[in-house]
Amino acid sequence: MVNAYREGARRAVEAGFDTVEIHGAHGYLIHQFHSPLSNVREDEYGADPILFGEQVVRAVKEVLPPEMPLLMRVSAKEYVEGGYNEAYALEFCRRYKAAGVDMFHVSSGGEGPIGSNGGPNAGPAYQVDLAEYIRSGLQVPVIAVGRLDDFAEAQVVISEKKAELVAIGRGMLSDPYWTLHAQEALGGIDKGNVPGPYERGIWKRK
Ligand SMILES: Cc1cc2nc3c(=O)[nH]c(=O)nc-3n(C[C@H](O)[C@H](O)[C@H](O)COP(=O)(O)O)c2cc1C
Repeated sequence: MVNAYREGARRAVEAGFDTVEIHGAHGYLIHQFHSPLSNVREDEYGADPILFGEQVVRAVKEVLPPEMPLLMRVSAKEYVEGGYNEAYALEFCRRYKAAGVDMFHVSSGGEGPIGSNGGPNAGPAYQVDLAEYIRSGLQVPVIAVGRLDDFAEAQVVISEKKAELVAIGRGMLSDPYWTLHAQEALGGIDKGNVPGPYERGIWKRK
């Protein structure tokens, strides 16, 4: 499996992608190793639930060009009873940073029946504190995500240095031109970002 991750990353580089994000959140395989509820192994990967992810990070890093940043998505806490908390997430992120991760994309949950709605408080900006916690705890750049589709609210996350980047999911499903509309709302569109045929619909529509 470690080799499969390495090969996947190698193909991504070969295909011309700008970066690679390893998925360690939301119940995907690396998360399953972290979670005390799913990792009931009795071998070295059970004794050290971070070992598998660490081996994956090292393997992927091996095939990336030296200047290419490596991102990793993590669930910074679980909501299910008996799940892990953010202090544990800080520990696995510390190991992954040492192994080669340059930036963490900080989500939460997704571990089981409660699902990825984020538990009881999935309101606006509900995961930003977790991103900030990993950022300040490890002095590492982070991406914040989760109900940040309000332009001004997303901007505050960046301007107050809670995260280096924000990711927008449902907001982009609802409005594929979210980034252009955010630029417009927050202080002017860079025309270079608007596809030519769409100019009259976006920055010249008034
Ligand atoms: C339709 C849909 C599909 C999603 N699929 C995935 C997925 O496959 N893997 C994943 O990690 N997150 C997935 N997510 C979660 C998003 O990546 C994101 O973390 C989450 O929606 C919170 O951000 P938002 O409030 O901006 O949508 C999905 C979300 C939606 C709405």
